[in-house]
Amino acid sequence: MSEVAHKKASILVLISGNGSNLQALIDSSKSGKIPGNITHVVSSSSKAYGLERAANSNIPTTVHELKTYYKGIPKENKEERAIARSKFNQDLVELITTKIKPDLIVCAGWMLILSADFLKPLSEAHIPIINLHPALPGYFEGTHAIERSWEAGQRGEVTKGGCMIHYVIEEVDMGEPLVVKEIDVIKGETVEKWEERIHALEHNAIVEGTIEVIKCLNEKQK
Ligand code: GRF
Repeated sequence: MSEVAHKKASILVLISGNGSNLQALIDSSKSGKIPGNITHVVSSSSKAYGLERAANSNIPTTVHELKTYYKGIPKENKEERAIARSKFNQDLVELITTKIKPDLIVCAGWMLILSADFLKPLSEAHIPIINLHPALPGYFEGTHAIERSWEAGQRGEVTKGGCMIHYVIEEVDMGEPLVVKEIDVIKGETVEKWEERIHALEHNAIVEGTIEVIKCLNEKQK
């Protein structure tokens, strides 16, 4: 029986910063390891170095910054801010579903919470979305997970750390894990070294997770 031929998946990557995970995806897409092309990068910050990485590989980029939406609204004005945040989400959804139209979305160091008004329309459009969390499932959800896991390790509260790739759900850094990678805590290790070891894991995990989602998409098409 012959294999079903699949077109290469188009991947949208969401970033906020350095973009070393984006780079891992770019490299693996170029080498053919990932059966897909990164067709667009959206950054939540105009200062993200990842934008340069994308430009160096001729990948189109869009900067979508929350501060533009919050402009002129004082922090105390929670109601107005909520409306602005919702508009930010709606515009991002529209950009994705009507212009970029990816087969899948990979959050690679995207630092903003993705709420239901973003996730629901994407689910309705059958666009899967995965995220990288620099800790093991069920641990250190939210920001500064690397530092928090290092501290817990050094205090003897955990013996392992790692990272996971998971499907995005409303609960931050939770959702079904697709790839989990572990490292052992080393007593006396610096946070810098711990971070370096986590990043090395992430760069493999994000590639494996992306390949996994593309496989699932291809299975569904059969
Ligand atoms: C990664 O450690 C990721 O897990 C965290 O932010 C970092 C992003 O790194 N949420 P980079 O921008 O991919 O270099």
